[in-house]
Amino acid sequence: MKGIIIYKGKYGATLQYADWLGDALGLPVFPAGDERPSAFAVADYVIMGSSIYIGKLQLGEWMLNNEALLLDKKLFFFVVCGTPLNERAKLEQYIEKNVPLLIRQRCSFHFLPGRLVFKKLSWTDRLLLRIGAWLGKKKGETIVMQDYDEVKEAHLQSLINTVRDQCRIPSVSIDKDMLKQPVK
Ligand SMILES: Cc1cc2nc3c(=O)[nH]c(=O)nc-3n(C[C@H](O)[C@H](O)[C@H](O)COP(=O)(O)O)c2cc1C
Repeated sequence: MKGIIIYKGKYGATLQYADWLGDALGLPVFPAGDERPSAFAVADYVIMGSSIYIGKLQLGEWMLNNEALLLDKKLFFFVVCGTPLNERAKLEQYIEKNVPLLIRQRCSFHFLPGRLVFKKLSWTDRLLLRIGAWLGKKKGETIVMQDYDEVKEAHLQSLINTVRDQCRIPSVSIDKDMLKQPVK
């Protein structure tokens, strides 16, 4: 089965996970909107990745624009976020609000802890985060404002195992440099 990884993030956490996944599964990785149409069209399965900002998935618009094509394929989705992973109800709400029902029904979701480096944020994101934290406090929610970095390759293991199981990918690693060498 052929696969492809398509992601959208802002400050590198989603990109980092997408690259690790690409290496582990031997799949091409594309930022959303820059995917090679031929690679997308022939893919049997798609692993989508997105971070989340003020309750909205970065990949939301791309998903809507490509819904018809996606519904032909096996789907996996990793969401990179600041919400603690034990806040399951909140995480599931993000999916309900952002992912069209037909995609949701055929997709396996995985939540991955993200990264926040306050001084690297744009001024609009700093402001949004402050407003979000203020509004969240009123509702009794905690929105983390301090820097954190939980982006670790080990968090991908469950997703990697699921993809390997469902798409029959052997777990032998391929040395990509060997593929580039001419056949003698
Ligand atoms: C302005 C702002 C808003 C955010 N909103 C949310 C949110 O609603 N829910 C959440 O779980 N994480 C939220 N986060 C945390 C990001 O999803 C997290 O930092 C993620 O790692 C970003 O990944 P990226 O660098 O690939 O975009 C927010 C971060 C910022 C800076």
